[in-house]
Amino acid sequence: MAEQDFPPPAPVVVERRTVDEAESRRANGPDWDRYADEYQATHGAFLGDAGFVWGPEGLTEDDAGVLGDVAGRDVLEVGSGAGQCSRWVRSRGGRAVGLDLSYRQLQHSRRLDEATGVAVPSVLATATALPFADASFDVVFCSFGALQFVADLDVALAEAARVLRPGGRLAFSITHPTRWMFPDDPGPDGLTAVSSYWDRTPYVEVDPTTDEVAYVEHHRTLGDWVALLRAAGFVITDLLEPRWPEHHDRVWGGWSQLRGRLTPGTAIVGADLRG
Ligand SMILES: C[S@@+](CC[C@H](N)C(=O)[O-])C[C@H]1O[C@@H](n2cnc3c(N)ncnc32)[C@H](O)[C@@H]1O
Repeated sequence: MAEQDFPPPAPVVVERRTVDEAESRRANGPDWDRYADEYQATHGAFLGDAGFVWGPEGLTEDDAGVLGDVAGRDVLEVGSGAGQCSRWVRSRGGRAVGLDLSYRQLQHSRRLDEATGVAVPSVLATATALPFADASFDVVFCSFGALQFVADLDVALAEAARVLRPGGRLAFSITHPTRWMFPDDPGPDGLTAVSSYWDRTPYVEVDPTTDEVAYVEHHRTLGDWVALLRAAGFVITDLLEPRWPEHHDRVWGGWSQLRGRLTPGTAIVGADLRG
């Protein structure tokens, strides 16, 4: 999709408030449905129709190698959006399947299936209730997908462990936990810490006309991630904190060259399920 103009988003009130799993899902599914066209028009070329980019820094799986060899492997992408990463896996011989909460994102996946001739079978579902049998996959991954949008991360990680075969691989990227101290602003205002790193209260956008939650992201500290992964049966093998490339001046939400030169914006984790 070419970049195009989109109407300004409806005004929301940003706050930190406690939100449970049901409310997170009720908010985020429709929000991604509303935002999908703009997201794909804005970021689609950067992602590549069959490309695998781990985050706004542009680190690719070709360079990172966190998944390991995917050829001949059964691979599940959770929060797959338009399936760009899964299409990359398929182009390397993996049997990738996509899963996303947003119907509109999956419609974009179908559009790219047809445009590229590389089809990613995909399901509409949530990370906390994977519609697959136990031990169905060798690899589960998530590139800025579902994990930071779920309240019940312990359930999502238990689900990933359940569908993985013993010794299987989990890999995901998230907003770097240290970023949560700063306003989500790519400019100078995004350089001053304004909230506590240890405050896990979710980031929430609220519709001021109804007071309903319209969008949610959940924050965990690095220590939380280690504890949750260990409790779900994983052994962490990799933590990548990609540097901002010198000549990369693309702004993506709160990610920018200005901030990227000073602080990590993305964390990429690789972990193996204990055999
Ligand atoms: C930032 S996009 C990333 C998509 C894709 N990996 C990419 O790089 O474009 C986040 C995706 O996670 C999906 N998502 C959010 N909550 C989810 C959930 N609970 N279960 C599955 N997918 C979810 C959204 O619908 C959205 O497509």
